Amino acid sequence: MLNKYLVITAVSLMSLIVVSCDRDSTSEAKKVTVKKQTSIVQNNSKRWYTKAQLIEGKQVFKNNCVVCHGDSGQGLTENWREALPDDTYPAPPVNGTAHAWHHSREALLRTINNGGIPLGGTMPPFKDKLTDKQKEEVLAYVMSLWPNNIYMAWKKRNPS
Ligand code: HEC
Repeated sequence: MLNKYLVITAVSLMSLIVVSCDRDSTSEAKKVTVKKQTSIVQNNSKRWYTKAQLIEGKQVFKNNCVVCHGDSGQGLTENWREALPDDTYPAPPVNGTAHAWHHSREALLRTINNGGIPLGGTMPPFKDKLTDKQKEEVLAYVMSLWPNNIYMAWKKRNPS
């Protein structure tokens, strides 16, 4: 009886390990594909995205993100640092007033891909809901909400 239990535990532990390794390698692969796409034309007042990406990105944001981040990325609560009655935290603004701009492109794309649930948050993952192209576009739109001084501060932190 005890032996059977031990075998079951060992097997489930092993599959857990396999699953997490698998997950790591896919996110590694994703990162590489994303990196390849990042050398996008620099126009639009020295920002990395194109106007076409912005137009698409606005739509992606509207369909997937507005519900939590607000229609211009301003968030939905007065104070995003304050926990909600259910003890979760509201979506922070992504319009340059909170700290999305502290993060590199890779980190922002990681949040879009994985959401916040693995880190104890509530944002759902978009890994399989959006294409890599749409993720780039929505990131372009989010960054377009940042005023120039914030964008330049981000760029200084993330030269490349
Ligand atoms: C169900 C609500 C919800 C949806 C939908 C959602 N988010 Fe979030 N988002 C959050 C929350 C809450 C956080 C804070 C981390 C957490 O709790 O998971 C967050 C964090 C972020 C951050 C990090 C901000 C920072 O200050 O570091 C970015 C960037 C972001 N979201 C972008 C998006 C984009 C782009 C979409 C649409 C593709 C989206 N989110 C959809 C709730 C949401």
